[in-house]
Amino acid sequence: MKDLFSRKINYMRISITDLCNLRCQYCMPEEGICKKDHEDILSLEEIVQIVKAGAKLGIDKVRITGGEPLVRNGIVEFIKMISNIEGINDIAITTNGILLPKYAEDLKKAGLKRVNISIDSLKSDKYKEITRGGDLTKVLEGIEEAIRVGLTPVKLNVVAVGGYNDDEIGDFINLTKDMPIDVRFIELMPIGEASNWAKEKFISNDYIKNRFKELVPTTTEKSSPARYYKLPGGAGRVGFINPISSHFCEECNRIRVTSDGKLKPCLHSNKEIDILDAVKNNPDKIEEVLRSAIMTKPEKHYLYTNEEERSNRNMFQIGG
Ligand code: 5AD
Ligand code: SF4
Repeated sequence: MKDLFSRKINYMRISITDLCNLRCQYCMPEEGICKKDHEDILSLEEIVQIVKAGAKLGIDKVRITGGEPLVRNGIVEFIKMISNIEGINDIAITTNGILLPKYAEDLKKAGLKRVNISIDSLKSDKYKEITRGGDLTKVLEGIEEAIRVGLTPVKLNVVAVGGYNDDEIGDFINLTKDMPIDVRFIELMPIGEASNWAKEKFISNDYIKNRFKELVPTTTEKSSPARYYKLPGGAGRVGFINPISSHFCEECNRIRVTSDGKLKPCLHSNKEIDILDAVKNNPDKIEEVLRSAIMTKPEKHYLYTNEEERSNRNMFQIGG
């Protein structure tokens, strides 16, 4: 369906859990977060009901995020249920990749199309440091497995952090020489854990582009928040995402669902519409709640203009 500003809303992003098997320094508090009670979060079956209602309103593309979506029990069955919904023709997951060696093949069979994998270092010790304990070999295996089973195009999401992985930017870019993958640099946002980080840790995409002059602009899909470049003769692409400015509000086609049953019409706004109550007590109303939430999508985000409207959720609650 179209919203008030004639934008066709066809993309639903669903955070199915706040929990994660890693503790990336810019994302999660070291001690982790409290697990919510069952009745306060949507069951996977309930999320399927929301997607069904969305499909009736014209949603055809779904992305599953977290926290880490693969830690939620029943994930493979869930993907199967989503892919069986009439009208849904693209399902992707954003994952840290740790559990991909275990699940990639089953997910592909269940109907998953693609994965985006978050990886901020190609060195085991550094990876362990920024994720507070993660095992890089699992992620690398996960990437290979995703390519092998055809969860393609595989996209790597890299958050560039000054003094941490800025010396590896070239290594990440060079991966695209031979591998048919998209490596995407995401600018660190000063939210959540990273909200008080020193200025030197924020690396702009322009800085990277200026240092790697051999990158040449290449075609970019219209709906993508990334601007893509290529190494001459490279097998893959290098993308740049500025999470705040790159997603042009005029082209915004998305609605977000959180694991505690809220609809977020805009990533950057704290305005949320409860759908948990309808799902648990009044399933006939789901479609109507969804429709009215889409109708409240703001024309643009108010990040720079209205402090009160700003979203106060952390990244691990919305999945980017
Ligand atoms: N700034 C930018 N990206 C972030 N992510 C998590 N927190 C931040 C932040 N403060 C990224 C993760 C992952 C994606 C879901 O969001 O690294 O790639
Ligand atoms: Fe987990 Fe992703 Fe947050 Fe890292 S960035 S702690 S992998 S949710």
